[in-house]
Amino acid sequence: MEIIKLNDAGAVGHKTAQIIADEIKKHDNAVLGLATGSTPLPTYEHLRDLNHEKVISFKNVTTFNLDEYIGLKLNSGHSYREFMDKELFDHIDIHKTNTNFPSVTPEGLKDPQAYDALIAKAGGIDVQLLGLGVNGHIGFNEPGSSFTELTHEVELAPATIKANARFFSSPSEVPTKAVSMGIGSILKAKKIILIATGEAKAEAIYHLVQDGPNEEWPVTALKNHPDFTVIIDHDAAKLI
Ligand code: GLP
Repeated sequence: MEIIKLNDAGAVGHKTAQIIADEIKKHDNAVLGLATGSTPLPTYEHLRDLNHEKVISFKNVTTFNLDEYIGLKLNSGHSYREFMDKELFDHIDIHKTNTNFPSVTPEGLKDPQAYDALIAKAGGIDVQLLGLGVNGHIGFNEPGSSFTELTHEVELAPATIKANARFFSSPSEVPTKAVSMGIGSILKAKKIILIATGEAKAEAIYHLVQDGPNEEWPVTALKNHPDFTVIIDHDAAKLI
């Protein structure tokens, strides 16, 4: 595990975009694992700029997002598909047909692990970007999740519903279920970058650094991965 501490969220975004851009240049058909949330926004802004400046092209890039809510109305404006379109895909030269999400219907999932099969068929994920939940979740793998699980349906923890309520008009509108790549799916990526900014993430970062892998803090599972980089700002590094 390599830890890179930077001054602020902007610097974290800049560094992360640089690493992802290098991966895109390195592979003829790069496969990216992408995350939602507010932490990756500066990264996506820099990736858009690098694409506009023609430093990188997404024409041969395939993406797999980590997770998606279950039970949202069509065009609710809150799905992770809509988030990614708005923040990244609508602004770059990617083919939308190459952007993938775990498929969800209002009733739930038919075969979540078909998503893992699709990732394998694309050659596996070259670089997986991850945010971090305040309770140490990655994707939507809440505390207590098994480290070997593949894509599956999840019940969101109360702490996650509370944290994500800021994107909705009230906490009661936040879906209680989602589908997420499992920790086992995530660990298959060839390279993993975890980004965290702000004081709210300091406790989870503390456990990542101090604890051995344990299911109470899902992020600690990443310590088992051979190519794992943590990029954090000053505030998220406050307790280490
Ligand atoms: C959601 C997503 C996670 C993300 C987390 C942190 O719960 N499912 O993938 O890492 O939010 O979000 P933020 O970056 O906004 O703090």
